This record gives sequence, structure tokens and C-alpha cells, in this order.
Amino acid sequence: MKKYFVVGNPINHSFSPKLHNYWLKQNNIDAVYEKIKLEENEVENFILKIKNQEINGSNITVPFKKSVIPFLDKLSLEAEQTQSVNTICFQDGKLVGHNTDINGFEKAINNLNYKIKNKKILILGAGGVVPSIIFALNKMEVSEIIVSNRTYKKAENLKNQFEKVKIINWGEIPDFDVIINATSLGLNNEKFDLDISNIGDGKLFYDVIYNPSETNFLKVGKKLGNQTENGKYMFIYQAFEAFKLWQGIEPSVNNDVLNLLDND
Ligand code: ATR
Repeated sequence: MKKYFVVGNPINHSFSPKLHNYWLKQNNIDAVYEKIKLEENEVENFILKIKNQEINGSNITVPFKKSVIPFLDKLSLEAEQTQSVNTICFQDGKLVGHNTDINGFEKAINNLNYKIKNKKILILGAGGVVPSIIFALNKMEVSEIIVSNRTYKKAENLKNQFEKVKIINWGEIPDFDVIINATSLGLNNEKFDLDISNIGDGKLFYDVIYNPSETNFLKVGKKLGNQTENGKYMFIYQAFEAFKLWQGIEPSVNNDVLNLLDND
């Protein structure tokens, strides 16, 4: 029986096993997908188990998406440019790191039927997932990307990877078409305390968080008359892309899959 994992710390909250095990069963694949919590000093040993095929593949989540890189033989272009790996495959004798968060985000936006090309984007946050979102937005040819992060320096570091990104102070709200919450604010129902009362309507509010399904950020956006979307499809599609890399099959994204992730 093949074995796949998602590794991170913390990992308890992860919905990946539910999703992947559903797809494995649906496609009659003799495999199991589990989650494990690792400490930083256990990562190398874990990766070696993929190399010697004790483990067939793995998803990587916070905080190891960058720290796994030195232990891999090769990176996809996307993983290289974002310095972020969320999926490891064993291909032609080599350990290859992929980044499926990028396609996950792109597919989630396409799924909305929202024409993001030439739109002005404001990203809140500068954590692990932000380089992947910026990469996807550039691919989708948005007109401008502005990043605002509580810790200014961390946002500024993004300019090393993405020259054209504009950095502004936390609390400053410029004109935008799409606002993306990529902070962890909202995971525990925290209040959204940036003053956006003057931004008006007709915008897209996108939250990377999907549990809870409606953060206070999305509630505020909705109240002001804007379109809102949580990170559920991004999560599903990053998993979809990982499944495709490992199994060579596109799994189905249907109501059962959506229901699997309904937790609140
Ligand atoms: P990491 O920063 O380790 O990559 P993450 O979960 O990917 O972790 O990122 C958390 C993001 O949420 C960061 O942008 C963080 O801002 P800082 O860089 O200033 O830490 C942001 N964040 C977390 N709590 C926040 C809060 N109370 N207010 C504003 N931003 C917050």
C-alpha cells in the first residue's frame, strides 16, 4: 500500500487527509494519506524516507515550505521562484519540490468567473503563502499588486523576489479592485480592525482562510456590498494539483468534496 503524508507544525487542523483519502478511495487507489507533526530537526530524515520510497510523496505546510528545499534534488520553476514547496514527488530517481498553491489560487479565481486581468490588488499579510499568490496574480496579468503587512520589513523583503510589488504601511488603504486577506487574522474569529469604511462597493474580498467559512474580514466586505470568497477552493485545488502529480489522475471536485470541508 502506498503512503502519503502532510507534514507541518501545528498539523491537527489539516483537512488534507480527509480530502486525499476521499479521492484515493474514489479512484480505487491502494494508498493512505496521513498527517504528521514534525519538529524542524526531523524534517531531513522524513524527506529521506521519500527518497528511499518508504513514503511515496508528501505535502508540506507551515512552517516547512521553505526549509525542505535544501533536502530536495530539484525544484519546479514555480517552487524555485517562490522559494516555497508544498508538494514533494519522487520522479525519475529524484526528489522534486513543487508549488501547487499557485495553481490552486489561480483555479479558485477562475472558478469565480471573476475577470482579474488588469485589476488592482491589495494583499494584507506577507507570510508563507503570499509569494505564491503574487506569482499567480502576475501570471493572471493584474495591473498592480500592493502589499500591506503589520511588520513592514517582511513585506519589503518580497521586493527581492517581486520587483514590481508596491509596499505600504499597515493601516493605509489605497484604492483597489480586489483585497486579499493573507494574514492569519480571522482564524480565531478576531475582529477585523482596519478602517475600510470608505472603500465603497463592487470589489472582491478574498480570504485565504476557509475555516471559519466567513471571517470578520469577509463579513465587513459583504456588509459594504462587495463580492466575497473564502479560501476553500484554493485549498481544494492545491490538493487537486498534488493528487494529479502523484497519481496522474484529475480527481473530481463535487459537492461531496465541498461538504467534506464543512466544519462550522
Ligand atoms: P509566517 O509569518 O511564519 O509565514 P503566516 O501564518 O504565513 O506565518 O503569516 C502570518 C501573517 O499574518 C503575517 O503576515 C503576520 O504579520 P507579521 O508579519 O507582522 O507577523 C500576519 N498577522 C498575524 N497576526 C496578525 C495581527 N494580529 N494583525 C495583523 N497581522 C497579523
